[in-house]
This record gives sequence, C-alpha cells and structure tokens, in this order.
Amino acid sequence: MSKVTVTIPDDFILGAAASAWQTEGWSGKKPGQDSYLDAWYKNDRHVWHNGYGPAGATDFINRFREDVALMKAAGLTHYRTSINWSRFLTDYENVIVDEEYATYYDSLIDELHANGIEPMLCLEHYELPAALLQQYGGWGSKKVVELYVRYAEKAFARFAGKVTRWFTFNEPIVVQTRVYLDALRWPYEQNTGKWMQWNHHKNLATAKVIKLFREKGYQGTVGTILNPEVTYPRSTAPHDVKAAEIYDLFFNRVFLDPAIKGEYPAKLLALLATHRVNWDYNEEEMRLIAENHVDEVGINLYYPHRVKAPSRAWHPETPFHPAYYYEHFELPGRRMNKSRGWEIQPQIIYDMAMRMKNDYGNVPWFIAENGMGIENEAQFKNADGEIQDDYRIDFIGEHLYQALKAREAGANCQGYMLWAFTDNVSPMNAFKNRYGLIEIDLENQRARRMKKSARWYRTLRDARQLTLSLDDEMK
Ligand code: BG6
Repeated sequence: MSKVTVTIPDDFILGAAASAWQTEGWSGKKPGQDSYLDAWYKNDRHVWHNGYGPAGATDFINRFREDVALMKAAGLTHYRTSINWSRFLTDYENVIVDEEYATYYDSLIDELHANGIEPMLCLEHYELPAALLQQYGGWGSKKVVELYVRYAEKAFARFAGKVTRWFTFNEPIVVQTRVYLDALRWPYEQNTGKWMQWNHHKNLATAKVIKLFREKGYQGTVGTILNPEVTYPRSTAPHDVKAAEIYDLFFNRVFLDPAIKGEYPAKLLALLATHRVNWDYNEEEMRLIAENHVDEVGINLYYPHRVKAPSRAWHPETPFHPAYYYEHFELPGRRMNKSRGWEIQPQIIYDMAMRMKNDYGNVPWFIAENGMGIENEAQFKNADGEIQDDYRIDFIGEHLYQALKAREAGANCQGYMLWAFTDNVSPMNAFKNRYGLIEIDLENQRARRMKKSARWYRTLRDARQLTLSLDDEMK
C-alpha cells in the first residue's frame, strides 16, 4: 500500500444524487397521483423491508431547506433528483400542472441556487403514473410516449429557465427487466416482448424529448442516465466471451447505442428476430432515434458483472430470455459489499470510461451514481453519535481515483456523483441498506446527521485533491 494524491480538476462535478419518489414522501399528494412505485407499495407491501416505502421516505418535501443546507455543508457542487411525473400533473391526458407541487420545485431549485449547488433534473426515475400503467399498460403503449412528451413540455416550460441540465430517464431498463423479464416485482408478468417494447418506447421517448427541447430553443442539455453493467467474461475462451457480448447487447447496448449513436446494434436486432421477440417499431421511430442523440450521458456504476457460457440446456417450453446465452459467474475470492450482495471492483469505472472514449465517440459523460449501501450502520456510531463510515470513504476514494485516472488518460468524464445524498428508500429494501452521506434517524423523527463521510466529502471540494492509500496494483 502507498499513499497517492490526485488533483481534482476545477470543473469536475462532486455531487450526489437522489430521486423524487425515494425522498419526498406522500405529504400533499392528491388522490389519483400514485406512481408505479406507490401502486406497487400499496399492492404488495409485504416485500418492502420493515414496511417502509415511498409513503414516508425522508419527508424531503417538507425538509428540503434543511437538506440543502446539509448539501452545502457536505460540499456538493451538484444535486440530481427527479420530478415526480405522477405528482407534477393532476390530469395526465390534458397535462394540467399541479400548481402546489410545481411551486415546491420552484422553491427547491431556488434554494439550491442560493446555496451554490447546481440542480440536475431527471424526468422519470420510475415515477410512471400508476393510472397510465392501468389504463394503457405503461411504457408498452405509444400513447404513453406521447403523454410523456407532453409532460416534458410542461416541465421545460416551467423550469428550463432555471435548470439547464436535463435527463429523460434514470436507468430506463430497470422496471421492465424486474417486472416483465424476470417477474420479480409487481405486477409479475414474464413477457419478453413487453420487455423489449418498453425498452424501445423509452428510447423513442428520449429522442422525442431531445427534439422538443431543441426545437423550443431552450438553453442547456438533455441527456439520459443509464446503468450499463461492466460485464467481464469468466475466461478468454470464445464461448465465455460470446456470453459476455450477448449480455452486453441485451442489457447495455440496447440503451447506450440508440442514445449515443442513434441506432440499435444490428446483432441485437438479429437476436430478437431469431427468438421471435415480438415488439412493434417502425421506420419513422427509427428515424427519430437516428436524428436525436443525447448531449451527455450519466452512468450509474456500482459493481462488476461476470458471466460464463451456459452449462445447461434451455427448456423448450420456457419463453425466450437473454439468459439462454449466459449464466452468472461469481469470481472466487471477490471483494464484496455483503449488505447489498454486490462485488466491489473500482476498475469498472476506468473500463467504462475507456469504452465511452473508444466505442462511443468520447461523448461527455459522468458517474451519475456510485455508492455503498450498508446494513445496521448505527453499529458504527462513535461516542458522539456520528457514524464512522470509513468503509464508504474508502469506497468513494477508490472509485473516484479510477475516474480521475481515466480523465488523465483522455476520457471525457465530467464528474462523480454519489448515491446517495441522504439515506433513502430503495425499491423493496427500503431503509435496510444505508447509502447516504447524511444519516436519516428513523427512530428519532427522521432527524438528519452528517456521517464522517460527509465531512470528508467536503474536504475534497475544499482542497480539490483526493488522497488515498492504494494497493500498487490499483494505481
Ligand atoms: C440505482 C437506482 O439502481 O441504484 C436507485 O437509480 C437505487 O434508485 C440505487 O436506489 C441503489 O440500489 P438499491 O437497489 O440498493 O436501492
């Protein structure tokens, strides 16, 4: 181990992220304003850890001024959250803005600016209105694409003067993968065609919203926030390499390529045709995707993903699933975050950075999420009650180091944003794993308290330097 000090460039983002539904709580929510998450929580509460969920969340909607003061104390340059589509409107068909909710966003944005923190807004972080899922089947419907574009138009009209960095989605692949591909979440339906239809419609929606933003002449950028899993094959053998390539097509390139290059990979289209995955698209939609690329990409990176060639035959009656071509592989001896069950390998940041540089035209991008969810963090409190989360400091330091190293090697990496600013609600895991720089004390009216990592994060901003101890092989 040896000590390394790296300079953090002045324009490099040092921020943190969250989403509306994971923080705001239901205070002030009107009947009929449920999101997909709210409906899932209401229908299937027993899968949410200890019964916590979006209802209480962190009560950010009432406490945002206190939280923005803490953002400033922790040294954040940027804060990313979402607008909750299901609450921003009272009527999704006629796009009637909920004035009360919009006013809250005006105040939040003003408060961020007043404290020198740049807001970044995402238009959908899974907050599809539940009514549109019930009525139209959600993102399976072209009508919902149109309603989303009209919602975006209202959001831009209201806030585009004050917010210049916009994102169409956060992790657009997640909901349909959990619901339609793997049937792990409510309303539990295995349907590979629906999975691909949702993927396609979200790509189409991104293109349409970019077009709208540019046609209206707003100042600023529109990007998307993706979660490509850096996927390593078990071995260098062709069968393992093929498994990794196919995984990459189905789960990473299905969003990266249309967003940045304006097209689906030909190999992915061929695989969908081979397996008769039924999805509906047309020339006009492909043209829109081809003509409207993102300005920047946020990338959420938490863990490496490893695969090997499948070792068993596919049952003939099992519907097609991309796992026909791969099996997950666990590297013996891997470093783990046992609370979340995710491998820790900071090199994913460097490897993704090189991929963005070499395969995606060095488009501007940043780490939109990276972080460490830990169970029972109260056990790490010192005598004064402050959580001594040195493991989080090490985790951030090692990943940030890889980003800075990649930038020195020519990657167009614009910054690092931690997930999350405060502890908040995860899908199902709720408050089980704590991610925040700031503790939310559920036993004490959701009191906020800086963790050791928050004070350390502040020093990064003040000194514009990262100092850490590294194994020689990590340098
Ligand atoms: C990302 C999401 O997948 O990871 C967040 O954008 C999520 O919404 C975060 O909370 C951490 O994952 P999890 O499942 O532990 O909450």
